[in-house]
Amino acid sequence: MNRIGVIGTGYVGLVSGTCFAEVGHKVVCCDIDESKITRLKQFNIPIFEPGLEELVKKNAAEGRLSFSSDIAGVIKDSAVIFIAVGTPMSASGEADLSYVKEAARMIGRNMNTHKIIVTKSTVPVGTGRLLESLIRDNLPDSSQTFDVVSNPEFLREGSAIHDCMNMERAVIGAGNAQAAEAIAELHAPFETTIFKTSLESAEMIKYAANTFLATKISFINAIANICGKVGADVTEVAAGMGLDSRIGNKFLQAGIGYGGSCFPKDTYALKHIAEEAGYSFKLLEAVIETNENQRLLIMDGLVQSLGSLRGKKIAVLGLSFKPNTDDVREAPSLSLIPRMLEMGADVCAYDPIAIREAGQYLPDEVDYAHELYECVTDCDACVILTEWSEIVNMDLERVHRLLRSPVMIDGRNCFELDVMRAHQFEYHSVGRQVIRTAVPAAVTV
Ligand code: UDX
Repeated sequence: MNRIGVIGTGYVGLVSGTCFAEVGHKVVCCDIDESKITRLKQFNIPIFEPGLEELVKKNAAEGRLSFSSDIAGVIKDSAVIFIAVGTPMSASGEADLSYVKEAARMIGRNMNTHKIIVTKSTVPVGTGRLLESLIRDNLPDSSQTFDVVSNPEFLREGSAIHDCMNMERAVIGAGNAQAAEAIAELHAPFETTIFKTSLESAEMIKYAANTFLATKISFINAIANICGKVGADVTEVAAGMGLDSRIGNKFLQAGIGYGGSCFPKDTYALKHIAEEAGYSFKLLEAVIETNENQRLLIMDGLVQSLGSLRGKKIAVLGLSFKPNTDDVREAPSLSLIPRMLEMGADVCAYDPIAIREAGQYLPDEVDYAHELYECVTDCDACVILTEWSEIVNMDLERVHRLLRSPVMIDGRNCFELDVMRAHQFEYHSVGRQVIRTAVPAAVTV
């Protein structure tokens, strides 16, 4: 049994720590936030992630997973230390490495035996080398040896446990073959493809992978915007493109753009890395710009169908940046709802899970409904920002009846056009024909 210490109990640290415990390692997760550790010890999981609570409880009960706020003690007791602290975006767009650097200094100060330090956080190329020197500068005994390895995480929120337990590859970047092999062995129970590289390449793989996926999304969104103008349907176009195995059918779902804690941050960070390296990454700049403009399609649809928004009541369905998470970081809801309010609309919002999270960032004027049908009642339009299954499977007939006018602006292409036509909605979606209905608005019941 290997002893793994994980510093940082955010998404990456908590999920990967729990999964490493699940495959048989002994894992201690630690954090400087003592209240978070206290809650974790009571199995009060700070994030909504399907399956995580059960897995944490199971592994804690079986003695493989524990939590501690004694970071120094965890460092001393662990042979392998994962750094999984946050790397938020700083004002200039580059990744803020202050938490990573502080973790490295602490590791240096508490180095008592040979250890392997593994960066899981997404960090700019060169950070592994920087950590090596920070650790070395803080060693109590300068003859103490250690290795730094980059092992980026590729899990998605909402399916994080599945993604981690069924990882498609483990990228292991190291300057020392023995250290790389030790981390490869830790991954043996996952029966995954091991891909060993240099430290720098592993760091770059993470950025290249995330920004490539963001590029796919902005590309299909740009195609959608043309489809809308020339009478093509982007869902058909994406399906037809995806049949070519060189392209693949994933990440070709057009909509109001990507959000979340990774793609927006990582695209800006890579743009910054490129600038620092003397390369002007025009393609990536266009990806970012396309994504920022894409959200505004919702406002276009609203203005097209309602004219002025002053005094209009709008139901917003979906506040999280994607389904199955309560994460609202860079969620379209946080920029679009204030815009609707500024334009004079009243907003009633609903989300199956993320109301509490979103409420911390949205203006006080927003009303929240605790049920989807309550949210749409008496509204002049219904706007879909997140494709939660509850929203995709809503009773359209009932929604039509409850809305003051049957207008739906769908930022996620949740419904077939024929279905919306049959239900007599005015339906605006992304990269598809607008369905207009001559039928007068239903009387509200
Ligand atoms: C992403 C990466 O997928 C993951 O590998 C990395 O470790 C972290 O960043 P995540 O942000 O959790 O994961 O969500 P993901 O499912 O990738 O979706 C990101 C955003 O893209 C969401 O806003 C989603 O709505 C949007 N998206 C995704 C699309 O608009 N269209 C698509 O086809 C796919």
